Amino acid sequence: KAGDKDVDVEEVLFFPDDLETSPRHPRIPLPGALFGGRLNSNGVEWGNEAELDALAQAMYDAPDAPKVKPFAAKDVDAAMTRAAKAAPAWRDLPVATRAAALRRGADLLEEERPALMATLAREAGKTIDDGIAEIREAVDFLRYYADEAEGLCPPRDLPGPTGELNRWQARGRGVFVTVAPWNFPLAIFLGQTAAALSVGNAVVAKPAPQTPRIAAQAVALLHRAGVPEDALILAPGGVEIGRALMEHDVLAGVAFTGSTATAKAINRALADRDGPIVPLIAETGGVNAMIVDATALPEQVTRDVVASAFRSAGQRCSACRILYIQEDVADRMLEMIQGAAATLTLGDGMDLATDVGPIIDQDALDRLHAHIAKHKPRWQGKAPAGLFLPPTIIELGKDEVLKEEVFGPILHVKRWKAGQIDKVLDEIASTGFGLTFGLHSRIDATIAHVTAQATAGNVYVNRNQIGAIVGSQPFGGHGKSGTGPKAGGPLYLSRFVEEVVISTDT
Ligand code: NAD
Ligand code: ALA
Repeated sequence: KAGDKDVDVEEVLFFPDDLETSPRHPRIPLPGALFGGRLNSNGVEWGNEAELDALAQAMYDAPDAPKVKPFAAKDVDAAMTRAAKAAPAWRDLPVATRAAALRRGADLLEEERPALMATLAREAGKTIDDGIAEIREAVDFLRYYADEAEGLCPPRDLPGPTGELNRWQARGRGVFVTVAPWNFPLAIFLGQTAAALSVGNAVVAKPAPQTPRIAAQAVALLHRAGVPEDALILAPGGVEIGRALMEHDVLAGVAFTGSTATAKAINRALADRDGPIVPLIAETGGVNAMIVDATALPEQVTRDVVASAFRSAGQRCSACRILYIQEDVADRMLEMIQGAAATLTLGDGMDLATDVGPIIDQDALDRLHAHIAKHKPRWQGKAPAGLFLPPTIIELGKDEVLKEEVFGPILHVKRWKAGQIDKVLDEIASTGFGLTFGLHSRIDATIAHVTAQATAGNVYVNRNQIGAIVGSQPFGGHGKSGTGPKAGGPLYLSRFVEEVVISTDT
């Protein structure tokens, strides 16, 4: 089938039975809607049909989330000052009290799933399975950071030769500002906010200007869960509000997720401040590559490329932007990928039949069209009218190198010759980004060599390259893709604390 001109997409998308038992090719949970299955991207079952229908119905019935008034410049000072006053009391609570509030927040997220999914769909164009996965991730972040803070915050007496009592403690730094992107307006917004809160910082949280309503719902939910209103303050607004927050005197730390250009602007603003040196955690974009060699399983590659490049309309920092295929198998695999991508249904996030939702706004769509206009796409799917971009495949010439993140459902492709895999790795490294990386191969030596050389924070072998799972796949990149430490990983909270050692003569 794979080599045929008219590939039967239904047949190629499903694994042959024998793969299920092969340890080298474990069956990996499939994104739900894409395959008509009932699994979200984290492999969590949606439940039975009736449960899903009930969830969808509750989501349709949920009223629109209230409008959120953006901050005026004067509101920034008021918010930062209030948060600074609240910070010591929040820091001095037992860590178990803060953790309990976050865990209650996680429970509320689960209970209020339909209303949150409705806002995610209406405001951010999230599909139903992306909405479920996003809520799952937010829940995971809250529970994970609650657990991690309970490990990190209790004071420890350190052994040593000094004959004194040496007590080490990690505690909140003061007021953290969190700055979030629109593409994970709940999970990332809450993840970085919960991390800062868990160890005793007060937080002023700035959502992206495109997605203030889901952020307001999330903040209200944490207040109901027990986080004091002054210890967590929403600061809705755009670039101007972000800039003013970076300049405020009481700022003690910044957790930012967004584009590399914005991270650099924030880094410059922080460097120019008077007073203390303010730490910045920046998680940014990527020119994420996947390498496929001639031994890869075409069906598996097809499934994983379609999910990595087109799921969430490619509006994931982790999405596959460029596919390097060994030339011997390139035509056959591209035909299968195009066949599979052609079956995707583009549409409204609220519609159960939708696989791929809209682009976030007209500006973003215009930028994507401008990028496509510079190339002649090898293939393009179909899209309804409106803020939609059809899945698009652009084949690059031998000397063309993709250097910038293209944030949408556009997959670039390049062919490589046997024996030239190191050249491909060099080309990928030359972009300076290093977020996610994918490899499809059935040769152990190739897997060992390539994974050792790959210059990315999250390396995925024989699977898709999106949907990192909190606590299991700590997420974050290197170089232009971010500073680390990785979100959802054991070192993340270390950047949100200040350490103190009290040495007492005994
Ligand atoms: P963006 O950089 O345009 O904006 C991100 C946030 O920064 C927004 O809240 C924005 O208002 C704010 N901002 C902009 N300029 C600012 C300034 N000078 N000072 C303070 N705040 C400022 O990014 P976006 O378009 O919202 O999100 C998409 C980008 O985010 C993509 O590049 C994507 O790769 C990246 N992203 C990275 C990760 C990750 O974990 N590495 C996850 C999701 C998204
Ligand atoms: N953590 C998200 C992913 O891995 C961005 O897709």
